[in-house]
Amino acid sequence: RQVTLYGAGMECGASQRGPVMGPAALRTAGIVETLSGLGHMVEDRGDLRPEPVAGLTVPGRARNAGAVAGWVRALKAGAETALAAGELPIFLGGDHALSAGTVAGASAHAAAAGRSLFVLWLDAHTDFNTFATTESGNLHGTPAAFFCGLPGFEPFLGGPLETPVAPERVTMLGIRSVDRAEHDLVLAHGLRVHDMREIDERGVAALLAPFLDEAAAAGAMLHVSLDVDFLEPEIAPAVGTTVPGGATFREAHLIMEMLHESGLVTSMDIAELNPFLDEAGRTARLMVDLAASLFGRRVMDRQTRSRWSR
Ligand code: ARG
Ligand code: MN
Ligand code: MN
Ligand code: MN
Repeated sequence: RQVTLYGAGMECGASQRGPVMGPAALRTAGIVETLSGLGHMVEDRGDLRPEPVAGLTVPGRARNAGAVAGWVRALKAGAETALAAGELPIFLGGDHALSAGTVAGASAHAAAAGRSLFVLWLDAHTDFNTFATTESGNLHGTPAAFFCGLPGFEPFLGGPLETPVAPERVTMLGIRSVDRAEHDLVLAHGLRVHDMREIDERGVAALLAPFLDEAAAAGAMLHVSLDVDFLEPEIAPAVGTTVPGGATFREAHLIMEMLHESGLVTSMDIAELNPFLDEAGRTARLMVDLAASLFGRRVMDRQTRSRWSR
């Protein structure tokens, strides 16, 4: 399948400026060359542009709602178009509000194709706030609530989301910062949230394997949304919302390798990279290396077929 890259340098959903430079940093770190070098047909389609949205008002304290809505509409359309063309799109962020658009587009495509959509959310945060619960007003804290169809987001698309993602098909790993009201919403809607404690106790492979089994058995599409702050800040400092105690280098690569072996991934986001906060490009390079693992880079060919080989 053709791998296509779309820059989505939005930062209107974030708390700090800088994610606008994320797509450029990922390109500078060699994402095209790296994925091509693994034998994929890769095409960089350049940067998406937000749709113009005028006169949008939202309740509560949401910041830059009109600008975010413009990006969400453009990204939803972009994801649908890419998937309909049989591409495997990777969206280069840009703040995590971008996933409101990409996942909504993926789920619209899946519904049209008669398939279900599973979502793997790799993040320190559940990003499940609504306009009513957000404490910060930063809309990068809301995309998962949007694509699960929670009420109140009608201004994003100018109407209700027609094909919401079923919350029980969303697995979140790496969670270690959830707001109070957000926490109650997450529990009420039945997302599968695995916090860092659960990773410590059980390990990422034991948490991820049943989810991949289920997605495979359902013949589902799988969207992976990777927030830089999923990772331990000591190895990935270039993000505006660092939380200590994140996933290690080895845990993150193992997840990517399992995803590769599953053959299930149909679209991906790399979100929240803020190159303004990076140290000589090391976070951008790490994100490219993780993408490489997801797209088939490995140290040794397996001597025995793992349970994920197909
Ligand atoms: N829960 C906090 C908020 O809603 C932090 C969200 C951080 N999200 C992110 N994509 N970095 O403001
Ligand atoms: Mn996030
Ligand atoms: Mn986060
Ligand atoms: Mn939060």
